[in-house]
Amino acid sequence: MRILGIETSCDETGIAIYDEEQGIMAHRLYSQIAVHADYGGVVPELASRDHVRKTIPLIKEALAEAGLTPDDLDGVAYTAGPGLVGALLVGCSIGRSLAYGWDLPAVPVHHMEGHLLAPMLEDEAPEFPFVALLVSGGHTMLVRVDGIGKYQLLGESVDDAAGEAFDKTAKLLGLDYPGGPVLAKMAEAGTPGRFKFPRPMTNKPGLDFSFSGLKTAAAVTIRAEDESAQTKADIAYAFQDAVIDTLAIKCRRALEQCGLNRLVIAGGVSANTALREKLALVMKKLNGEVFYPRPEFCTDNGAMIAYAGMQRLKSGVTTDLTFKANPRWSLDSLPPV
Ligand code: KG4
Ligand code: ZN
Repeated sequence: MRILGIETSCDETGIAIYDEEQGIMAHRLYSQIAVHADYGGVVPELASRDHVRKTIPLIKEALAEAGLTPDDLDGVAYTAGPGLVGALLVGCSIGRSLAYGWDLPAVPVHHMEGHLLAPMLEDEAPEFPFVALLVSGGHTMLVRVDGIGKYQLLGESVDDAAGEAFDKTAKLLGLDYPGGPVLAKMAEAGTPGRFKFPRPMTNKPGLDFSFSGLKTAAAVTIRAEDESAQTKADIAYAFQDAVIDTLAIKCRRALEQCGLNRLVIAGGVSANTALREKLALVMKKLNGEVFYPRPEFCTDNGAMIAYAGMQRLKSGVTTDLTFKANPRWSLDSLPPV
């Protein structure tokens, strides 16, 4: 079986074709960073308009890259939520329409299930059960995963998502949107120990996160200090260190609580090298293993939507001619496969 995947939930148009036997046959990604850079963040209306321009051409390119025609497909999967409603509607209506025109089943996919299952596209894929840390621009979640669709939410952010905190702090440091990866690069030149920020919500039990206070602590320091490149790097280092340490403490706690020793990290922030190194160390100490997608499949992409769509298609999840974008779709409401 072979499926087309369409991702348009935020500021990336991602298209991929996944084949059950051959894996990813083609994937195309267009990032809208340049469109939103002048505004310091994603402008929803501009995002929707750009998805309208890019989705169909990228689908054509992906089919050409794979040497396929629509006749060679068995389904069309698209991100139906969560995300920006206008952006989602583009992928939903194009995906649903193509499925109708090509006489194929249409498969709505949950964006975070896509992230969660992205490590399954790697040679070293995790076995169930495992604990997943999902860290993106919109979400920070710890999930116990017992199988596809068997998700138990263990904890989540009560305010900013980890990626959002990265982006906001980067903006305060004068970095362009999206600042997460740029702040991470800057932190490489930072001096460990010059600044120390809090590890929010680690002193009390529980698996929820809060990152807005940490962002404020960084803001106060940025205002009080000089603007030299070294000081900025030192602040970036301390901020990243606090986020990573907090995530690592909660991952360890979640694994202990579940009695598991397999950890999956996914979502944009899982591309962060320092986070990967830290969690590798933690898992080594626990005699466990950590799994993540290749960097290009950490951030938004069509491959993860095609993969998740295939699992849902095989379990019989398709929609009729009505479709719904669901900007606030909760992960643990998904049916098990
Ligand atoms: O998963 P994603 O592409 O989009 C959402 O679903 O939100 O995640 C994007 C987020 C942004 O906040 C971005 O700054 C962050 O992931 N990010 C990073 C890194 N790469 C992307 N944050 C820290 N370090 C990175 N290397
Ligand atoms: Zn995402």
